[in-house]
Amino acid sequence: MLKVSIAVAAFAFACSANAADPAAGKEKSKVCAACHGETGISLAPDFPKLAGQYNDYLVRALNDYKTGVRKNPIMAGQVANLKREDIANLAAFYSSQRALATKY
Ligand code: HEC
Repeated sequence: MLKVSIAVAAFAFACSANAADPAAGKEKSKVCAACHGETGISLAPDFPKLAGQYNDYLVRALNDYKTGVRKNPIMAGQVANLKREDIANLAAFYSSQRALATKY
């Protein structure tokens, strides 16, 4: 029984260590809000909406700005100091926000 509970505890720890933290992402997103809106719904059309975007799309986009694969002088400056976990947390935050419905 003890062995089982140790295994379960170890598994839970491993999972929590890897899981992205949307609350930490929300904290980090304060500097992004000026352009992308508080919950990722930008007010100006020049700034893409991030709310409800796929998590892996956001991670990819931020990494691409960081490596220069995707070139944009504004975003390059924004991501320069983000760590891998910051990117994961930001993506977890924005992807969990409700997107606006598109009106046709
Ligand atoms: C000064 C305004 C500004 C700030 C601050 C800013 N962004 Fe951006 N962001 C932009 C613009 C402009 C683009 C579009 C760039 C392009 O065409 O590639 C963009 C694009 C993006 C994209 C790609 C969206 C897509 O649909 O492909 C992501 C993701 C993103 N920003 C996340 C962030 C995050 C996270 C932060 C904060 C760490 C941040 N941005 C801060 C202006 C800003």
